[in-house]
Amino acid sequence: MKGIKGRTVIVTGGANGLGAGLVSAFAAAGANVVSADIDEARGAAVVAGLGDNTAFHRTDLQSDVDIERLVGFTAERFGGIDFLVCAACTYADAGGEADRAAWRTAFDINLFGHIVLMRMALPHLRKSEWPSIVNFSSEAAHVGLSARWVYPATKAAIEQVTRSQAMDLAKDGIRVNSVMPGWTAKPWQETAPQEVKDQYAYWANRLHMLGRLGRIDEVADAVLFLCSEHAGFMTGSCLHVDGGHSAMGPQGRDVVLPTTLRKGTKAAQPSKVTS
Ligand SMILES: NC(=O)c1ccc[n+]([C@@H]2O[C@H](COP(=O)([O-])OP(=O)(O)OC[C@H]3O[C@@H](n4cnc5c(N)ncnc54)[C@H](O)[C@@H]3O)[C@@H](O)[C@H]2O)c1
Repeated sequence: MKGIKGRTVIVTGGANGLGAGLVSAFAAAGANVVSADIDEARGAAVVAGLGDNTAFHRTDLQSDVDIERLVGFTAERFGGIDFLVCAACTYADAGGEADRAAWRTAFDINLFGHIVLMRMALPHLRKSEWPSIVNFSSEAAHVGLSARWVYPATKAAIEQVTRSQAMDLAKDGIRVNSVMPGWTAKPWQETAPQEVKDQYAYWANRLHMLGRLGRIDEVADAVLFLCSEHAGFMTGSCLHVDGGHSAMGPQGRDVVLPTTLRKGTKAAQPSKVTS
């Protein structure tokens, strides 16, 4: 993709899941990549073998000192910073039982840490020829979810902050967007018990127009696109990479038109699991 090769990106959460996929995708596209995560073992394993243009930097997003070191390390090693990709998160969520400390921790990682990173990287982004920030939202940010209060609130917050960042950084030529993945398959699911796999397949089918989980590379493609020169007129937007999840109404893919019911047709049954 135009505009990725030779540029420098910090990927938070680069040790696992989508973040790890992003580290590999940016490296394959010829970018200099610094993976930032608290998980040192997995973080080092992901960058091993990806070449000299990829590094891991142990970073706790709850620590300003760590974030300052991450920014300093990246700028010194690669001569600047062009992109921030903010994928790290905690999913810890006790819903209505979450206490103040739990709320603080979740917001500290999912929101505050990424805002501090943006602030500290700003002098470097301002010097970049093609600066861009991509934040991670979630479909959970847009709906009420039983027993999940905290994580969705952090995601709604980062999606909103994305618009404010885009507004105020536009004068510096810095584009800021978010991505909203649907349920995305992760490597650990491949070795999960069959019962867990069946549950994922069932909900993937129910919740997405495309009837399946997303793939990490599909989300990575969208993030690279947002950073690339192909997305030069995009800022303040949220790109849905969700298999149609967020465009689907409460009836899912079932046919429940009142006219259908009036004709005496049997009421629609919930969609069958097909994958
Ligand atoms: N996987 C999905 O289906 C899905 C769906 C919607 C949105 N998302 C979003 O995509 C992003 C990646 O999700 P994922 O499922 O791959 O996550 P994941 O749980 O697999 O990875 C998150 C990473 O964040 C790191 N992390 C946690 N606390 C940290 C801290 N204090 N400092 C630094 N790193 C820390 C973890 O060590 C981990 O490597 C998240 O922002 C998530 O909200 C994912």
